[in-house]
Amino acid sequence: MHTPFELPLLRAVTAAPDTVSADLVVALYAGEPPDGYRSRLPMAARVEFDAALGRGEPVAELGRVLVASTAAGTGRLIVVGAGPGPLTRDRVRRAVASGAQWAREHRCRRIAIDLSGVGEDAEGMSAVAAEAVVIANFNAGHMKTAEPLPPVTEASFLVAAGLRAQLERGLVIGEAVNAARLLTNEPGNVLTPRELADRAVALTAEPGVQAEVLGPDRLEALGMGLLLGVARGSAEPPRLLCLTYTPPGVTSGPVLGLVGKGITFDTGGISIKPADGMDRMKDDMAGAAAVVGAVRAIARLGIPRRVVAVVPTTENMPGGRALKPGDVIRGAAGITVEVNNTDAEGRLILGDGLWYARQKGATHLVDVATLTGACVVALGKITSGLFGTHQPFVDALKAAADRAGEAVWQLPLGPEYRELMKSDIADIINSGGRAGGAITAAAFLRDFVGDVPWAHLDIAGTAWVDDAKPWAPKGASGVMVRTLVELAAGDLPS
Ligand code: BES
Ligand code: MN
Ligand code: ZN
Repeated sequence: MHTPFELPLLRAVTAAPDTVSADLVVALYAGEPPDGYRSRLPMAARVEFDAALGRGEPVAELGRVLVASTAAGTGRLIVVGAGPGPLTRDRVRRAVASGAQWAREHRCRRIAIDLSGVGEDAEGMSAVAAEAVVIANFNAGHMKTAEPLPPVTEASFLVAAGLRAQLERGLVIGEAVNAARLLTNEPGNVLTPRELADRAVALTAEPGVQAEVLGPDRLEALGMGLLLGVARGSAEPPRLLCLTYTPPGVTSGPVLGLVGKGITFDTGGISIKPADGMDRMKDDMAGAAAVVGAVRAIARLGIPRRVVAVVPTTENMPGGRALKPGDVIRGAAGITVEVNNTDAEGRLILGDGLWYARQKGATHLVDVATLTGACVVALGKITSGLFGTHQPFVDALKAAADRAGEAVWQLPLGPEYRELMKSDIADIINSGGRAGGAITAAAFLRDFVGDVPWAHLDIAGTAWVDDAKPWAPKGASGVMVRTLVELAAGDLPS
């Protein structure tokens, strides 16, 4: 077993690109060179760069690597396309990750990244560039016995010395994204509910974080019949993890509640899924991973926001004791649910999780879940679904996602959708059928949030990358870690 990722040593260096000591220098090119950019290229590289431009090569294409020879043999130099037009944080993140990936493939362990041309937003650009190098160091094949590509061990950023703190910030966020990706990539036999809870506690053992892990007896005492119901078919006992972060000196103000779906494997239960592609359902705890990664980063960055994070976690398995279609169960909020489809299990465990976060004092609630195939149909694998009823809070979440460079799109949640969830025998059914499936799932959750401003993120389509990019290798994406950190750092509307 190899380490899934190593952290590079980061340095802020003020030197000319051709004098810095590194195996590889990464320069960015975005359509028009910013002032002075081209002149910073070593002469030999400039000749090749100009020649490629002259031949009409698409050198500005995002992630495209142009290999240029350097002047006095100070290692290699590549120019990475960052897309046309002015640089944005998102394109810098992608371009730098492409450069770092190229470095690994070419066995360059010490790299330098020239950020001298990024313009005004040097702070933000430094953070995303550092984040990109850390994310590019991720090794998705950590269970392969063969040696992985060597990681980048040292990254020097050609930026002002004052930007060191921004590099560190990027490192912390990138590392949290990697931690979430690793949890999500772990197979179901390794990452059981107990293991998820244990690893989450270890990952968030930071000053100000208190962890609580509830097992079946405590869940029973709290009346968490929804989580316990889903767990019935499994030989693995369920857990409910609660992480409370209290930043030093913060005793009042909003408490951000984060609830993550932690199904460590979703077979569908008695309403069993088809065999094709079922293996992917090990990622059904990506919401939990996002929440845990976010708490880790929030605590390490010392963001002055109280946070309570709740992760209900279990397997969803068929078995002699498993939930059957038509069973009625009752959650801790006192709501009775007719389970017409055991494969709509995520909303069940989230019902108890949302209730617990409210009990723990959350004044704002966000849940993150690989909740519905319908959301994948609606928005594809690019954009996460966003729902909510408190529009200012939904807007704050949207703004946080925009700042983080993660695509979200709000879907409607009118009261008519709740009509589709009526049960003849209980308060609500758990599946509203195929039509509007992502929305009826959100309508179900809404019954469990009380009066607390709430938003729901459906990451069923975005938690997993099938179509690898240099900045996003195949496997878990770690989506929503960055957005949740941004949300915690910003203002929360009441
Ligand atoms: N974990 C799945 C949702 C999912 C599907 C995520 C595909 C990623 C890819 C969830 O538990 C589920 O099975 N949802 C059902 C709900 C239905 C029974 C109402 C679905 O989407 O089919
Ligand atoms: Mn399911
Ligand atoms: Zn599921």
